[in-house]
Amino acid sequence: MLDAPMIDPRELRNAFGCLPTGVTVVSMLDEAGKPTGVTVGSFTSLSMSPALCLFSIGKEQASARLFTEGAPFVVNVLSTELADLAWQFAKPLEDKCAGVDLTESLVQAPRLNDAIAHFACHAHAIHDGGDHIIVVGEILGFDHKEGDALIFYRGQMQTSAPL
Ligand SMILES: Cc1cc2nc3c(=O)[nH]c(=O)nc-3n(C[C@H](O)[C@H](O)[C@H](O)COP(=O)(O)O)c2cc1C
Repeated sequence: MLDAPMIDPRELRNAFGCLPTGVTVVSMLDEAGKPTGVTVGSFTSLSMSPALCLFSIGKEQASARLFTEGAPFVVNVLSTELADLAWQFAKPLEDKCAGVDLTESLVQAPRLNDAIAHFACHAHAIHDGGDHIIVVGEILGFDHKEGDALIFYRGQMQTSAPL
C-alpha cells in the first residue's frame, strides 16, 4: 500500500495563496463587552434564503472562543483605503480598535463605519474544520456603498481594479 504523500505546510499555504481573497474585519464584543475584531480573508457568501454567510477561524485564535460561545458579529468588507486596518486587526494587540471609527449595528457588535459593506449576523452554526472552526452567520441586516474592495493575493494587499 502507498503511503499518503507528505504535505509541506509552507507549500500548501503558498498554493492556497494563488487564489485571491477579499479582506474583511469581523467585529464583535469580547467577554468584557469591549469592541474587538479579527482580519478574515475566508469570508464568503453561502445562502440567499435563509441569508447566510461563512468564514473560518483558526482554533488557536483568541477570537475563536467568542464565536463558539455564540457572540453576534459584523462582517466589514474593507476597501483599498483601509489596508492599514487589515494589518491592525491581524495583530494580537491589547486594543485592536484604537483609532477605528466604530458605530453600533443591528446586533450586539460594533461595525467599522468606513467599510464598503456590512453584514450584521447572529451565529447560525459552528462546524469543525480541522484546525479551524467554520462559522456560519445568519445575516440580519446589511448595507453597501461604492468603493474598490481590498484584495489579498500571494501574501500582499492589492487593489481590485478591473481589466
Ligand atoms: C489578509 C488576512 C486574512 C486573514 N484571514 C484569516 C482567516 O480567514 N481566518 C483566521 O483565523 N485568521 C485569518 N487571518 C489571521 C488573523 O487576522 C490574525 O491571526 C489575528 O491576529 C487573529 O486575531 P485573534 O487572535 O484576536 O482572534 C488573516 C490575516 C490577514 C492579514
